[in-house]
Amino acid sequence: MLALANKIAIVTGASSGIGRATAKLFAEEGARLVVAARRQAELDTLVAEISDVEGTAIALAGDVRDEAYAKALVDLAAERFGGLDIAFNNAGAVGLMAPLPDMMPAAWHETMDVNLTSAFLGAKYQIPAMLERGGGSLIFTSSFVGYTAGMPGMAAYAAAKAGLIGLTQVLAAEYGPKRLRVNALLPGGTDTPGATTTTPEARAFVEGIHALKRMAQPEEIARSALYLASDASSFTTGTALFADGGVSINRT
Ligand SMILES: NC(=O)c1ccc[n+]([C@@H]2O[C@H](COP(=O)([O-])OP(=O)(O)OC[C@H]3O[C@@H](n4cnc5c(N)ncnc54)[C@H](OP(=O)(O)O)[C@@H]3O)[C@@H](O)[C@H]2O)c1
Repeated sequence: MLALANKIAIVTGASSGIGRATAKLFAEEGARLVVAARRQAELDTLVAEISDVEGTAIALAGDVRDEAYAKALVDLAAERFGGLDIAFNNAGAVGLMAPLPDMMPAAWHETMDVNLTSAFLGAKYQIPAMLERGGGSLIFTSSFVGYTAGMPGMAAYAAAKAGLIGLTQVLAAEYGPKRLRVNALLPGGTDTPGATTTTPEARAFVEGIHALKRMAQPEEIARSALYLASDASSFTTGTALFADGGVSINRT
């Protein structure tokens, strides 16, 4: 039996990195998917790759900061597949890195909007759809940044990612009685286009802060997302789940 047989899922940030790897894994495990990001061409390629291995996915391009897009994704899952069981709210970006006194409010808002407000907008429409199906699994991609590590220059990103953990805890308590589980996933440094490792020095630094002395491949983070999405984690809710290569405990 596939881990996500008969499940319907939304994956945001599916055009790249962790979201792309997770969409492919969810589809391999039997879920029918709505995949989301701004870049239509990348989503179309993903849908074709999923279709090549007998999976089912449809793409809807848009911006996760847009409330109408959040609603449209849930509506599409309902129209095409009959409802919603799983949402991996994963789209995000580090945004401008700067000392706080140098940061303009517009840059602060941009980082908060893409990482935190997007999660609120997603959950606002995903929760009622999941409750109609008798529950589900709601997942937010947070980070060790802002939770177990203070990284200079990343104040807005850290505040947004820590905010996701608070959001997770409240929603888990609020909807646990209705069999809706809510968890945050905290990847370590992961080898994606969104990582901040643009120079060999930056990469060596990021590898070195992990106990495992390397970065994750996006497929490794996808397996933790699958755990949270599936019944394998049926008694897990309200958590901040590390898949972080030990970056949170490492001091060497
Ligand atoms: N890589 C790491 O080291 C790391 C560590 C901890 C946490 N994370 C988190 O993991 C998540 C995935 O990041 P990644 O590393 O896989 O980066 P990535 O490869 O850059 O992927 C980011 C995804 O988010 C989408 N996205 C960004 N802004 C969007 C917007 N306004 N509207 C819709 N989609 C948007 C991008 O698609 P489009 O550009 O097509 O819109 C892309 O699919 C993020 O939340 C990130 O903060 C990453």
